[in-house]
Amino acid sequence: SSNAMWGGRFAEGPDAIMEAINASIGFDQRLAAQDIQGSRAHAAMLAATGILSDKDAEAIREGLLTVMSEIEEGTFTFSAALEDIHMNVENRLREIIGPAAGRLHTARSRNDQVATDFRLWTRAQIDAALAGLVSLQHALLDQAEAGADWVMPGFTHLQTAQPVTWGHHMLAYVEMLGRDTGRLEDARRRMNESPLGAAALAGTSFPIDRHMTADAMAFDRPCANSLDAVSDRDFALEFLSAASICATHLSRFAEELVIWSSAQFRFVKLSDRFSTGSSIMPQKRNPDAAELIRAKIGRILGANVALFTVMKGLPLAYSKDMQEDKEQVFDAADALLLSLAAMDGMVRDMTANVENLRAAAATGFSTATDLADWLVREAELPFREAHHVTGTLVAMAEEKGCDLPDLSLAEMQAVNPAITEGVFDVLGVDNSVASRTSFGGTAPERVREQVAAWRARLG
Ligand code: ARG
Repeated sequence: SSNAMWGGRFAEGPDAIMEAINASIGFDQRLAAQDIQGSRAHAAMLAATGILSDKDAEAIREGLLTVMSEIEEGTFTFSAALEDIHMNVENRLREIIGPAAGRLHTARSRNDQVATDFRLWTRAQIDAALAGLVSLQHALLDQAEAGADWVMPGFTHLQTAQPVTWGHHMLAYVEMLGRDTGRLEDARRRMNESPLGAAALAGTSFPIDRHMTADAMAFDRPCANSLDAVSDRDFALEFLSAASICATHLSRFAEELVIWSSAQFRFVKLSDRFSTGSSIMPQKRNPDAAELIRAKIGRILGANVALFTVMKGLPLAYSKDMQEDKEQVFDAADALLLSLAAMDGMVRDMTANVENLRAAAATGFSTATDLADWLVREAELPFREAHHVTGTLVAMAEEKGCDLPDLSLAEMQAVNPAITEGVFDVLGVDNSVASRTSFGGTAPERVREQVAAWRARLG
């Protein structure tokens, strides 16, 4: 049989394969609440502007509430023959209230309808991600505060570089997540315009009030150009782009947790609640959540690339290609929110092994730069020469199989006679981190200031 919504000019219904490739109800039923919200706003506006009678508007309002509760209770039957969420809802509304349901689609098209639904949905995901980010930042700040003066190795090339503090390392991620928040807030601000009333592409001849529907859905204003409103998905691309960057940050931290929780590092212990065992190796505590967070960027960036590829080269206005936007964004949003929640739980539960961090910080000649700086400051050597002298001392210690502070003063003076007893003051890791007091540096006092500044900023 031909379609009830647009079957007027059709003699035959679609081929089964046509229906299979065309139907989006399998996934866009996730837009049900937004679809009904948009329809309610639209119906109320049609009544207020006199386009729809109050009686019909009331029937539509009541009917939509019934449809929503059927969907929530799981008694609603979704039909692929009705293609998508928009036609499924409208069709059910007709079953419930009769022909008045057909008046709801006055001055509207599925093109502005889907753009509206999807903006509402994506906006809600951004709000959830923003809440997740703040929560994770608080978890990191708690860690940073507890460990403002716990010394750990700082790495470059994953080789020992200079000692840093645990708090400083945690704060590095607080900064990254703060920028992720900023990107998502920007995206939200730009996307918060209502496409509803753009109709198919050209606007409508009915005297609608787009400001009224925009207000009803908490959009800042209606989109100013009807062609743009129905044909762009940059709001989804922006969300996916910001999500990709955020997921990259989470992936890097996850990688560190995988390394840190290994038997070779033993920097942290992840809680039982965020570890898994092995069915064969009884000793195992695997950091699966961290590994999965490390991997989720694959989906999220993949979704981003997929949607860019769909959108590039599409002529204005709506093309069915754009129906391919939803699964990508759904999947990416799910992955991002789950990653944020899992990281949050891991960070709250994890325990730093303060002794191991400290012992590791002292290995690998981590205070060699402090020694070179001392030679510049106290013995007035040019930095290049100080670097060379220190390198010679490192080689000497390596040869002896000891650390820099284990060399005797006489051994040091044999390399450079200007070295005095005072050098030993700068070879310890506590002294090293305490000396890095430049703004943004790793010194515990700077870390405490940054923790306080972030707490004030997050409120
Ligand atoms: N299911 C469609 C989508 O997701 C809704 C818009 C359909 N519009 C149309 N002209 N066929 O994009």
